[in-house]
Amino acid sequence: MTTAENISNLSDTTKDFISSPRKMLLNGQWVTSASGKMFDTLDPATGEVIVQVAEGDKEDIDRAVAAARKAFDDGPWPAMTSTARERCMHRLADLMEENADILAELEALDNGKNVAIARAVDIQVAIDFIRYMAGWPTKITGNVLPLSVPYAPDAKFLGYTLREPVGVVGQIIPWNFPVLMCSWKLGPALASGCTVVLKPAEETPLTALYMGELVCQAGFPDGVVNIIPGYGHTAGAALTVHPEVDKISFTGSTEVGKIIVKAAADTMKNVTMELGGKSPAIILPDADLEVAIPGAASAIFFNQGQVCCAGSRLFVPDNLYDEVIAGLAEAADGMKIGCGLDPENMINPLVSQIQFDRVMGYIESGRAEGAEVVAGGGRRGDKGYFVEPTILANTNRDMKVVREEIFGPVVCVQRYQDIDEVAKLANDTVYGLGASIWTRDVGNIINIVPKIRSGTVWVNCHNILDVVMPFGGYKQSGFGKDMGQQALEGYLETKSVCIMA
Ligand code: NAI
Ligand code: MG
Repeated sequence: MTTAENISNLSDTTKDFISSPRKMLLNGQWVTSASGKMFDTLDPATGEVIVQVAEGDKEDIDRAVAAARKAFDDGPWPAMTSTARERCMHRLADLMEENADILAELEALDNGKNVAIARAVDIQVAIDFIRYMAGWPTKITGNVLPLSVPYAPDAKFLGYTLREPVGVVGQIIPWNFPVLMCSWKLGPALASGCTVVLKPAEETPLTALYMGELVCQAGFPDGVVNIIPGYGHTAGAALTVHPEVDKISFTGSTEVGKIIVKAAADTMKNVTMELGGKSPAIILPDADLEVAIPGAASAIFFNQGQVCCAGSRLFVPDNLYDEVIAGLAEAADGMKIGCGLDPENMINPLVSQIQFDRVMGYIESGRAEGAEVVAGGGRRGDKGYFVEPTILANTNRDMKVVREEIFGPVVCVQRYQDIDEVAKLANDTVYGLGASIWTRDVGNIINIVPKIRSGTVWVNCHNILDVVMPFGGYKQSGFGKDMGQQALEGYLETKSVCIMA
């Protein structure tokens, strides 16, 4: 298939959206970049160009921050009544729902992923999350404080707290769940009254730009949401050092997260970091393998393993090892590989040539270090970025493939003997994003869950995310939460007010 053939099957609205170069959303207007530069966004199934996109850089970021600053300081957004803000956000959710199929098509085309899964998971959760967050503006409240003030015994005081928006927020998102990340970031920022400059990943700008269209239609005041596509080291970096930006919320690699925390320190920005992972899936000796084997397969192969909480280290006890390896290999070998626009294809291309090379490099490194390739291990086809679902068995803690995030459809299986040691083995990583345990014994759950150092622990499932469930990392997987009520905390200041009678 060529990209032109892929596009020919899409809806007219989607075709129309990619029929001419896309601009950036700055202060409620669609504009070209200050430099006039554009970059290509590619179809990962073919490596061909889909469309060109305006390439933002420092000057565009400066303008966008100025617009967001004005909309925050003088503009209507934080001053609007909370019911009016809620209505605006509900309109955005309604528009996302009306255009859900377009969002799914654009996501599948730009990222490579399965279009039906994009519609059912990525887009649906994004809609639900904007709706969930749309309910919050009327419910964000402070407290009345019972002040004592021992050194002013004759005075009377009223003390209370106000929850106020943190201000102008820079949001930098990755390419693995573009529209979902866009909603994870926009939802709590808008609900709390912040204004936003969002930079989508250079690999996948299209759905964020389409969200920009919907933001305009929903009637958000100019400058509240600005969307500036561009590269990380230019547009992204400019956002992280901008003195008028109050907060940075980032999802992406731990490596870049460290660069951003340092860059943001100079102006003491509030930062939220949702970073990489090397999440364990732990099959316990009593697990129901009819659940655990397909569960472990989907924990790593969903979204081609390009998931920050993917179950990339699989721990299997001695008594079940052969059966799990055989079942997992059968599952991997049975997955249909191909372009995401055909919903039958469950393994789709990786997002880019760079990501493809990185993942193939890790598979080679695993082989060289003595891992046994029991399924996959190679490329599929001669164009596009397709990697077979791959199982590396007999791996150990010292191998590079076990220590580093691969971010592809590659699972490293480690064998263990002693259930009392398994939490320690699982924690043997710098990351702490997710973990799953597979067991039928409630005692095992009660014992092991508290020992795991990660932001989420799933039991008999993996990669389940819900709008009410806070999501974020321990250790080098970052700090702060996306989703749930806790996501708001990152966008709110607390002001103490003390009135003396
Ligand atoms: P990345 O961390 O470089 O990209 C994520 C975002 O950060 C993009 O929008 C990018 O433009 C921006 N960015 C990059 N450098 C920046 C800088 N200096 N200042 C400000 N913004 C910057 O991730 P990349 O290179 O796409 O993937 C590399 C590896 O990172 C992957 O193989 C994977 O292991 C990991 N990753 C983890 C993700 C997660 O969800 N935890 C998402 C994407 C990648
Ligand atoms: Mg692309």
